[in-house]
Amino acid sequence: MALYSEKVMDHFLNPRNVGTIPDADGVGEVGNAKCGDIMKMYLKIDNDTIQDVKFETFGCASAIASSSMATELIKGQPVEEAKKLTNKAVAEALDGLPDYKMHCSVLAQEAIEKALENYYSKKEKKDE
Ligand code: FES
Repeated sequence: MALYSEKVMDHFLNPRNVGTIPDADGVGEVGNAKCGDIMKMYLKIDNDTIQDVKFETFGCASAIASSSMATELIKGQPVEEAKKLTNKAVAEALDGLPDYKMHCSVLAQEAIEKALENYYSKKEKKDE
C-alpha cells in the first residue's frame, strides 16, 4: 500500500484555502516542538457561522493535507460544529494517515481550537 492515500496527495499538491485573512475574526497558531512544524488558521465568522477560513502551514505533507482538509470540513459550518472537529475526523476524511503522522492532524484540530478561542475572547471584549 502507498504510504499516503490519494486524498492526502491531492490536498498536499493542491491545498485548498491557502493564505491569510487580513481582517480575520479569529486567528490561531500552533506548533509541534518535536518536528518544528507550524500551522496558522484564520477564521472569518458572521452569524456564528464560519464564512471563510484560510491557513498557512510550514510543515510536512501530512500537515499541509490536514490543514487543507480541516478548512474544507469547517467552511460554511456553524461555530458550534467547527468546535467539535477532531483530528480523527480530519484523518478519516483524508482516507487515513500513517500512525506516526497522526500528530500532523492534531495540529489542524488545535489550530482551529485556538482560532475559535481567539474569536470568543475578541467577541467578549467587544460585548463589554
Ligand atoms: Fe510534524 Fe507533520 S511531521 S506536523
